Amino acid sequence: MLAQMLFMQPPVPALPTSLNFHGKTVLVTGANSGLGRAACLHYLQRNVSTLIITVRRASEGEAVKAELLAHPDVKNEPKILVFELDLSSHSSVIAFASKLRAEIDCLHIALLNAGVFLLDWKVSPHTQNEMTFQVNYLSNAILSLLLLPLLRATAEANSLLAPSYLSIVASQKYNESRFIANPIPESTTIFDAFNDEKGFQPWSLYADSKLLVRLFVKELAKHVDPSSVIINCMCPGMVKTNLARNLSFPLRLAGRLVLSVRARSPEVGSRVLVNAAGGAGKESHGEMLVVYQALPVIPWIESKEGERMQTSLWRETVEEAEKNASGAIVAASLL
Ligand SMILES: NC(=O)c1ccc[n+]([C@@H]2O[C@H](COP(=O)([O-])OP(=O)(O)OC[C@H]3O[C@@H](n4cnc5c(N)ncnc54)[C@H](OP(=O)(O)O)[C@@H]3O)[C@@H](O)[C@H]2O)c1
Repeated sequence: MLAQMLFMQPPVPALPTSLNFHGKTVLVTGANSGLGRAACLHYLQRNVSTLIITVRRASEGEAVKAELLAHPDVKNEPKILVFELDLSSHSSVIAFASKLRAEIDCLHIALLNAGVFLLDWKVSPHTQNEMTFQVNYLSNAILSLLLLPLLRATAEANSLLAPSYLSIVASQKYNESRFIANPIPESTTIFDAFNDEKGFQPWSLYADSKLLVRLFVKELAKHVDPSSVIINCMCPGMVKTNLARNLSFPLRLAGRLVLSVRARSPEVGSRVLVNAAGGAGKESHGEMLVVYQALPVIPWIESKEGERMQTSLWRETVEEAEKNASGAIVAASLL
């Protein structure tokens, strides 16, 4: 029992056989690796009609596409479109969203999976924002706002018979964020707190970025009707992937040891992603799903401090989206 508590994660049941994506257009970001690639395979095995995958390097995308299409379980000759997307850059996010709108006329599911785990202070050369904040939170948030009109239009074209999905990969680790014990003072913006090199705390950074994802999903859900677009996030648990690739060799080695004992395979972990982004119902709106169930928010999220952070985050994010993609908020019907 003790060994189980220390080492095992609860099993993730197989996805229901009724889950079928025939006729659907699905987007998966960060599709060349780990959970993203495994999620693509689940959609393909369940007959997705058009799969849009994003990668940072087009050549890598073509290789992943060929590999996915060659899988023996992929039988229905799906269309796979490869797009480039670099979440460290606002212009890449905006260019991607424009290209997507120009090249496809519907989007049923957006699974925003791409993310990083860094322990070094790193700044995006494109935005000058701290990199984990930029990639895990800010670009995913702006991309969400830019995708909303198409997701909503897709559901409306279908007379709201089936809602679209906007699902972001988060982490239960959000509850380890340093900002829970030490909230950002009212005099400091959240963006400035992340961009303050002097206050940099490497071991909290990933959790900090996922706390923002959790708060953003909770707030965005308040502005969107789940009959049109279900907004949710999910945590796949600990999964054996390349997420630690940027850490030092000793840390990667230690991480590999833990993963080898405790982690889920990408195939198993990505079931949680695909359930949230295509299987879950309206009750998942604004929630974080863990093994197909909503994980109750920690009490801090609903405290005065948590609500203040959520409100500030929304204001700062909307301002940043408008600054970089003028008209995005009106287009997303969020005013
Ligand atoms: N593994 C876990 O235990 C675990 C647990 C909870 C949550 N998650 C989350 O799951 C998601 C997927 O991670 P993973 O575990 O599958 O790790 P992974 O194998 O490292 O995959 C990460 C993906 O994100 C892409 N990416 C990284 N930086 C990017 C950028 N600037 N622009 C665009 N794409 C970028 C990577 O592309 P490149 O190959 O080009 O770098 C890769 O496709 C992440 O959001 C992560 O936080 C993972």
